[in-house]
Amino acid sequence: MKILMVCLGNICRSPLAEGILKKKIKKHNINAEVASAGFVSFHAGQSADQRAEMTASQFGVDISTHKARVFKQGDFDIYDQIFVMDHENLKAVHKLSRNNADRNKAGLILNELFPGENQIVPDPYYGGKQGFVDVFHLLDKACDAIIQKIK
Ligand code: 4NP
Repeated sequence: MKILMVCLGNICRSPLAEGILKKKIKKHNINAEVASAGFVSFHAGQSADQRAEMTASQFGVDISTHKARVFKQGDFDIYDQIFVMDHENLKAVHKLSRNNADRNKAGLILNELFPGENQIVPDPYYGGKQGFVDVFHLLDKACDAIIQKIK
């Protein structure tokens, strides 16, 4: 099972989701791979946002080696499931899909926690530190739901 987390910048939400799920996969001895990507090429090659890195570290998740990258069409060939943070980025992923098989791989990550509700993980980039803590807890619960599903 290969999972890709997707947000806009690939420096806040999706690196957190990747780090959180990686830790849970290890803990539960699950055979799965996790990565993340975004759509803003401006941040490509950069580490995660300092606030995201600090928040993760505060809760025992290490994302210090993260390098941001842009989502590409070839990701549909590599990943089985693509968990997206909000509607805009889901639209961007869907736009690159070549067929229904591609399209059906992608969905909102919070639908794993709140099925059918189409809730989004709010972008914490322009806010303060608390936004990152809130996003961390939300993603932590969503990743628990993903673990239950793939276990
Ligand atoms: P992310 O947050 O999508 O959670 O990584 C953002 C980071 C950077 C930008 C937007 C969102 N940006 O436009 O630079």
